[in-house]
Order: sequence, then structure tokens, then C-alpha cells
Amino acid sequence: MKLTVTLLALVLQVFSLENGLMRTPPMGWLAWERYRCNINCKEDPDNCISEQLFMNMADRLVEDGWRDLGYTYINIDDCWMMPERDEDGILVADPERFPHGIKYLADYVHSRGLKLGIYEDLGNKTCMGYPGSTLDKVVLDAQTFASWEVDMLKLDGCYSSPEDRAQGYPSMSKALNATGRPIAYSCSWPAYDGGLPPEVNYTLLMDICNLWRNYDDIQDSWQSVLTIVDWFTKHQEVLQPMAGPGHWNDPDMLLIGNYGLSFEQAKSQMALWTIFAAPLFMSTDLRTMSAQNMDILQNKLMIEINQDPLGVQGRRILKTQDAIEVYVRPLSRKASAIVFFSRRTDMPYRYHTTLRSLSFTDSLLYEAQDVYTENIISGLTADTNFTVVINPSGVVMWYLYPISGLENPLASKTFLRL
Ligand SMILES: *[C@@H]1O[C@H](CO)[C@@H](O)[C@H](O)[C@H]1NC(C)=O
Ligand SMILES: *[C@@H]1O[C@H](CO)[C@@H](O)[C@H](O)[C@H]1NC(C)=O
Ligand SMILES: *[C@@H]1O[C@H](CO)[C@@H](O)[C@H](O)[C@H]1NC(C)=O
Ligand SMILES: *[C@@H]1O[C@H](CO)[C@@H](O)[C@H](O)[C@H]1NC(C)=O
Repeated sequence: MKLTVTLLALVLQVFSLENGLMRTPPMGWLAWERYRCNINCKEDPDNCISEQLFMNMADRLVEDGWRDLGYTYINIDDCWMMPERDEDGILVADPERFPHGIKYLADYVHSRGLKLGIYEDLGNKTCMGYPGSTLDKVVLDAQTFASWEVDMLKLDGCYSSPEDRAQGYPSMSKALNATGRPIAYSCSWPAYDGGLPPEVNYTLLMDICNLWRNYDDIQDSWQSVLTIVDWFTKHQEVLQPMAGPGHWNDPDMLLIGNYGLSFEQAKSQMALWTIFAAPLFMSTDLRTMSAQNMDILQNKLMIEINQDPLGVQGRRILKTQDAIEVYVRPLSRKASAIVFFSRRTDMPYRYHTTLRSLSFTDSLLYEAQDVYTENIISGLTADTNFTVVINPSGVVMWYLYPISGLENPLASKTFLRL
């Protein structure tokens, strides 16, 4: 089964967008979930959408070790613009909140080894009512973003018709390419057309976008995380094969560091997003993050799994009557990531199983590293009985690798943090 998935991914890769970007899921920071359309700089100067906010977060990404772990994108969302284009039809950043303009911000983040993302909307207006990229403005806007040396564009879909989207999303892809500047392209298109075939043509999306939002916006609650996880899992047969190097499903931002998730739930979101080979965009105040949340987001083995070069998205492989779910993601070097997820609300649950019941049928000797506790579980064969203790709304996550019959994938590496 694992082999089939891998081959399929390789075959599909042939059709993917050829801008060479995002061979692994992008990582960084995106303003929307935490900062929304807060333009009230008078009362809330530290948290309003302004160049100051992005410069502060860029500084944190560099100085607190995020950049060196791979969190390199710093992305603007809605509400950065003036309410009107200028007399030449060009988009203008709000001069009070972005007094130096977007090019200055791009230079600032580039000088710190980061990349800048910007936001537009393929429609009459952005979701919050700022000037949209109507079809006649697509080429001009692509050129404007390139002239500012932006590195990524999120193109939203409010105030557009299905026909506008069918024409506009491919046009913007072409227009970005024509600028000659590599600009990663995030398409909200599928989320506006129900996220599924036949309305959504994922073959086409792979051809024109680096990532796409399949489903609803995430909100700051565990319920929102569960709704997203359940939708992605319900449709995994359709969605899983679409992900691969250069083209990713995007279940939306990480909530970790905000208000809606417990510690267990924060660990669960991180683990599940990693199984989904999802982009890791934080949307939180990096200036005030707790050490606990930082540990989750900066877990080196977790990031290594998320960024696995095979780029194969995982799947839920089973769900028990006791509300335990098991997810598996195939990784390079014959390794796998396994997430044991509890949907229970009572107490830590002792889940007894074997690798064979999780579809590992080889006659190999395996070892696992618990991604959060760093404990090593050795001497596992397909038929070894083992028990994991999973907290309510929590996970246990394993990095599983064969240690006989194959070269030890860990032998050449020293990321075991022991
Ligand atoms: C534009 O597309 C061509 C063909 O797919 C590709 O070779 C090239 O690298 C692209 N350029 C940019 C800047 O994305
Ligand atoms: C966008 O604006 C045009 C011109 O006013 C209008 O015809 C069209 O219906 C609008 N589209 C949407 C989706 O609101
Ligand atoms: C989806 O898009 C691809 C690539 O553009 C195209 O070849 C295919 O015919 C489309 N499929 C459908 C069902 O429209
Ligand atoms: C694992 O547990 C099952 C059921 O409890 C038992 O039948 C089996 O012998 C055990 N296997 C090993 C290798 O201990």
C-alpha cells in the first residue's frame, strides 16, 4: 500500500507547477487568524495590521530560532491596502500603517533571510472590502507584486463568480510566471467551490498553484480543528494523492499560542498537520509565546517529518469504537510517522495494538521514537503487542523506522535529542 502511494505521487508530480518552489510544505507566519483586519492602530498600536507588526514578527522569527528551523515566510493577509487604487490603477499600501511601502518591508525581511508573502483577492473586493484583482487587473497586480520583490501571493476568492475563478486563478499563475520572479502561489479557489470534484479540478490546481485552501477558514477553537480534520479525513481518498513536492493541500493556519487550544490539543494540531503534509503557518503573537508552545512548534523531529522530501501526505488508517484514531504518513528511508489520536473526553486511554494491525506487515525489526517525549521504543516486530497511553483530545506520535534488513536511517543523523 505504501509503495502504491509513493508511485502515484511520483507520477502526479509530472504535472505540477514548474516554478521550482515549495518542494516541501512551506513554513512561516501569516497574520490572519490572530490579527484579522485590526486596523485600529490608535488604540492597539502593537497589534494592528502595520509594517511595525510584520517587522516585529520578522525579528522574532530570526532571533528566536524560527527561521533556522525552516519558518521563513512572513505573510501579510487582508487589510494592507488603501481603499482605492491610484490613478494608474496600481494597488497602494495604506500610508499610515505602511509608511515605507511594501518594497521596504520586502527588503527588510530579505535582509534577515526571510521571505515576504502578500494577499489579494480574485474578485470585485477582498473579503474585507479592499480593491480586488478583477480579471482586467490580474497582470498589473502580478507585476506590482514582482516589482516589490514579494515572494508569495495568497489569492483569496471573495466577491468572485465561479466563472471569474475558472479564468482568474490560471491567469494569475501565468501572470506571476511572466514576471520572471519566482513567486509562490496559494490559491483559495477550491474552498470557494466546495473543495471536491467535479466542481474542483485538482489536476489543474497542481498545474497552477503551489498550495490551495480546500476548506473553511480555521477559527480559534478546538471544534474548528476537529471540523477541519474530519473533513480532510472524510475526503482523504480524493485529497491525499493531490499533495506532493510543489503542490500541497492547506488545512489552514496553526492556532498554537492563541486562546482556543489546550496543551494536549495544541500538540494534536501540530501532529495532525504534520501527518497531512500541511503548510505550517503560525498565526500568533511570537512576542509573548510560552515555552511550552514554543517546544511544540520548534520540535525538530516533528519539523523533519513535516518536511520529509518524499512529500507524501498521510491518511487515517483506522478508527476504533473506543474513539481512537490512527494516522500513518509514509516517509523517506522506509520510515513512517504514526499518530495515535484520542477523541475521548474521559481519561488517558490505554490503547493496545500491534504494528501488523496498523498495516506494517514486513518481517523487519523496528524501532520508534516518541516525537514529543523522545523515548525510544525498540524491539518492535509486526506482532509485538504494545500499549500507548493517549490523553483526552491528545496524541501519541511515533517516528517509526526499520533497524534490520535495511540501513538504519538514523545512523547517519544525530537529530535524536537525547
Ligand atoms: C515559468 O514557467 C516555466 C515553464 O513551466 C518554468 O520553466 C519557469 O521556471 C517559470 N518561471 C517562473 C519565474 O516561475
Ligand atoms: C462584480 O462587479 C461587476 C460589475 O459591477 C458585477 O457585474 C458582478 O456581478 C460582480 N461580481 C460579483 C461576484 O459580485
Ligand atoms: C482538469 O484539468 C486538466 C488539466 O488542465 C484537464 O486536462 C482535465 O480535462 C480537467 N478535467 C476535467 C474533469 O475538467
Ligand atoms: C499479543 O496479545 C495477544 C492477545 O492478547 C496474544 O494472543 C498474543 O500471544 C500476544 N503476542 C505476543 C507476541 O506476546
